[in-house]
Amino acid sequence: MFDAIIIGAGAAGLFCAAQAGQRGLKVLLIDHAAKVAEKIRISGGGRCNFTNRDLDVRAPHKHFVGQNPQFCRSALSRFTPADFIALMDKHGIAHHEKHKGQLFADRSAEDIIAMLLAECADGGVQHWQPCQVKSIDVSPSGSDGGESYQIETERGRVQTPNLVIASGGLSIPKIGASDFGYRLAQQFRLPLVERTPGLVPLTFDGASWQPYAELAGLALPVEISTGSKKERVSFHEDLLFTHRGLSGPAVLQISSYWKPGTPLQINLLPGVDMAQVLSEAKLHSRKLVANELAAHLPARLADAWVARMPELQRPINEAGDKALLRLAERLMRWEITPTGTEGYKKAEVTLGGVDTKVLSQQSMECKTQPGLFFIGEVVDITGWLGGYNFQWAWASAHACAQAM
Ligand code: FDA
Repeated sequence: MFDAIIIGAGAAGLFCAAQAGQRGLKVLLIDHAAKVAEKIRISGGGRCNFTNRDLDVRAPHKHFVGQNPQFCRSALSRFTPADFIALMDKHGIAHHEKHKGQLFADRSAEDIIAMLLAECADGGVQHWQPCQVKSIDVSPSGSDGGESYQIETERGRVQTPNLVIASGGLSIPKIGASDFGYRLAQQFRLPLVERTPGLVPLTFDGASWQPYAELAGLALPVEISTGSKKERVSFHEDLLFTHRGLSGPAVLQISSYWKPGTPLQINLLPGVDMAQVLSEAKLHSRKLVANELAAHLPARLADAWVARMPELQRPINEAGDKALLRLAERLMRWEITPTGTEGYKKAEVTLGGVDTKVLSQQSMECKTQPGLFFIGEVVDITGWLGGYNFQWAWASAHACAQAM
């Protein structure tokens, strides 16, 4: 008999196990994968962007997506980025800030995994890994009116009054992602919000992408937007052209808001009034239009844009005003409709998941199923790129561990 059994030894599961164990609970942590915390290992280019200093706990909707982003406010305000930084400092793990508040380990994500394992050891956590969970049943425990969960695994049958699901989302199935948490939610008749890939490159069908495919590898800062006027979302980040579509931080961020069938608007020259720049250049320059553009954009991109406008393949002083205006508009309001995404094999996260309306925001416990908790990415809370998803994993794990 364990006080708590946690399924999933990723970011949320490891942290929850450590915290619960250190509170004196007898904890078992089960994972079906051979290696612990694979996503931490590959995150942030191997250095794990473990939190973000810019997180505004009073306004979670700024950095989190879901049907009710306010749900994460309680957990995030009780375990903040500063709390995780303090833990890193306690373990002597050097870290640095990169872009927009993003914090990374100086040396390696492995240091963070080692820290979480050391914290688990401090709490006397038992690990069963790799270990498949075959089935989960529940029955009244009899003594205190609570529930008892019986977990049938390939290493035998175990039971607990507190079952924590930390099995994560669907992205990168080859390193252990599964739909376990969603299936379990269905078993207990809990509502699920539709799952789709998030923080994912966007693709375009072959024919519509053909003119841009030659730009693969090119990156530039842009402003990217989606949604109707009322619910418009925009990001200022780098865009990357790929063979099949668009990627880079700008596209990963917007992908979590993009609805299939709707367009993206991209300003390839944020902060520049290109109509003005071109009309002034026309007065005193004899350079080719493409060369004038190349002063503001990567030359390959400038060439590709002008190549599709024969009326502009000439010196700028010979170009028509209307054609120059059209060019400026196409650069500043490039509208393009993706046909799909690169899917879970490339997505960093899964949007949707266990509906927050059945969970307590204080404890992550299921309101209709006492003793059953969901933490981390399996819940319908998805952070922006930049360390927000790990902060949600730590904070939801902490809230759960304090409540058991
Ligand atoms: P996580 O996926 O970490 O753990 C789930 C665990 O459950 C896994 O160990 C899995 O094996 C186990 N499991 C699944 N099914 C099971 C089953 N049936 N039985 C038993 N165990 C099972 N975020 C961020 O904030 N900063 C970053 O730098 C990055 N970078 C990044 C890069 C890449 C390539 C990806 C794919 C993702 C990121 N992320 C990120 C997102 C981040 O990794 C993710 O949001 C967290 O790992 C979620 O933590 P969880 O503990 O909820 O799931």
